[in-house]
Amino acid sequence: MRPTVFVSRIIPEAGLKLIRGACDAEIWPDVMPPPYEVLIEKVKTVEGILTTLNDRIDAPLIASAGTQLKVISQMAVGYDNIDARAAQARGIPVGNTPGVLTDATADLAFALLLASARRIVEGVEYIRNGMWKTWEPKALLGGDLSGATLGIIGLGRIGEAVARRASGFDMRIIAYSPSKNPTDTSKLGIELTSLDTLLAESDYISIHVPLNSQTRGMINAQSLRKMKRTAILINTARGAIVDQQALYEAVKAGAIAGAALDVTNPEPMATDDPLLSLPNVIVVPHIGSASQRTRDKMATMAADNLIAGVYGKPLPNQVKI
Ligand code: DGY
Repeated sequence: MRPTVFVSRIIPEAGLKLIRGACDAEIWPDVMPPPYEVLIEKVKTVEGILTTLNDRIDAPLIASAGTQLKVISQMAVGYDNIDARAAQARGIPVGNTPGVLTDATADLAFALLLASARRIVEGVEYIRNGMWKTWEPKALLGGDLSGATLGIIGLGRIGEAVARRASGFDMRIIAYSPSKNPTDTSKLGIELTSLDTLLAESDYISIHVPLNSQTRGMINAQSLRKMKRTAILINTARGAIVDQQALYEAVKAGAIAGAALDVTNPEPMATDDPLLSLPNVIVVPHIGSASQRTRDKMATMAADNLIAGVYGKPLPNQVKI
């Protein structure tokens, strides 16, 4: 008998092909993720479940899983939607997809940095609104990157990849890393600082920490007050790291110059969210890893973790807590 698995979304074919080749797979067919109640039902019967960051895999859900459940495989590097401790306590390994989305996410962070520094979205709107009458010496003036200070919060793989890009743009790079001692700071000329120094000295701040109890609300009214009035905040990590109401108030009041967000809290962001009314705020719909090659790799890696788990083998990428 082939193992049974539930795949909570239609993931790229590269992953589905592997899963179908090794398991009896039920694939949730909708664009929208399965309701929580459906997930509860599934973990009572299947041997493996492949999840995305939309699926709430909390302690009650894990407690309701049958003893047949052998693996939870998340198609993402972040797994803040999963209570990994509860899974560990039940002996259920959790897989994730680190490494393969580093460059895609760093590219997006840098795209947002450049777009907000050089007011690209405002420029597009300017033309759409019929305001482009002539070359204007003082219109749409933005900030320079060369010589500016980039503050990186979180110097894991993605933070380091952003630093590599910034060094090519001749930026001064400072970083605050709450959890680990990063290795190649000297090679990239990164200065490690406290969070307060980073907030006070950066022209651009890019967030690359995971969401956990330490980082939730890390950027709040108090931290925004410490930033330069000319600073721009970029978040491609998780929405809940930033207090969005405080961010709105800071940008609206001119306490900082702008923000660019790939992640929001909640997701999706409501279309009447006040942040969307600000011309100097760019919001995109959690597309950090959304390149074809990256999503194919994430799907393949998540499939490999799922298959290893249901066959009782060590996961190629198991979350360590
Ligand atoms: C992740 O992998 O955690 C990303 O947010 C998905 O793009």
